[in-house]
Amino acid sequence: MNDQRKFWNERFGREGYFYGTTANCYLASHIDTLLPQQTILFLGEGEGRNAVYALERGHTVTALDAAEIGLAKTAMLAQSKGLELSLIHTDLEFWNPTQQYDAIMCSFLHLYEPLRSEVFAKALKQLNEGGIFVGEFFSIHQFSKTTGGPKDLNLLYAADQLSAILQTMPCEILELCEMDTQLNEGLVHNGLASVVRLKVQKQ
Ligand SMILES: C[S@@+](CC[C@H](N)C(=O)[O-])C[C@H]1O[C@@H](n2cnc3c(N)ncnc32)[C@H](O)[C@@H]1O
Repeated sequence: MNDQRKFWNERFGREGYFYGTTANCYLASHIDTLLPQQTILFLGEGEGRNAVYALERGHTVTALDAAEIGLAKTAMLAQSKGLELSLIHTDLEFWNPTQQYDAIMCSFLHLYEPLRSEVFAKALKQLNEGGIFVGEFFSIHQFSKTTGGPKDLNLLYAADQLSAILQTMPCEILELCEMDTQLNEGLVHNGLASVVRLKVQKQ
C-alpha cells in the first residue's frame, strides 16, 4: 500500500488538480448513456474528476483510491458543487468489496499483474447483472510518448492481453480497441496518446 499511496499523495499534495477537473472523454461518453440514478464505483479515481462528473448527472457515486489526499480533493471538488459521494480508502491489493454497483469505471489505472487480473475479476463480481465495466488505459505504444503514463511496460496495457484475461470471466466484451487519441487533461496528459479502451458487460 505504502508505495502507491506515497507516490500519488505527493503528486496530489501539490496545488491544483494534476489531471484537471474535467472528466476523461471516454468515461464521460459512457456516463452520458447510463440510465438515471445508477450506482457507480470509480477505481483509482485520484482527485475525482470522473466521479464528480457522474455526481452532477444524478448518479450515486463511490470513489476508491490508495491516496487519501486524492480522495480528500475528490470530496472537496464534490462539495464545491454541493454534492456528496462515498469514499473508499484502500490499496486495490487489499480491496475487500461488499457492495454491488451498476457500473465500475477507471481511467489510467496502472496495475501490475497479477493484481490487474484480480481487480478485473473482483470488479466483475461486484457488478449487478448486466452492469458495465468501462476503462481507458495507456497502451504499450505510449511507452515512447511524452503525454503521460508510466515508463514501465508492465504497467501499460495491450488489447490482446486484456482479451485473454477477460476470456475466463463471466462477461461480454462490448468494446476493446487500441488507438491514438488527443488528450487534454491537466498538467501532463496533453497531446497525442496511445490508449486501450475497454467496455464489458457482466453476464
Ligand atoms: C494516473 S492516476 C489517475 C487518476 C484518475 N483516475 C484520473 O484519471 O484522473 C492513477 C490513480 O490510481 C491510483 N492507484 C494506483 N494504484 C492503485 C492501487 N493499487 N490501489 C488503489 N489506487 C491505486 C493512484 O492513487 C492514482 O490516484
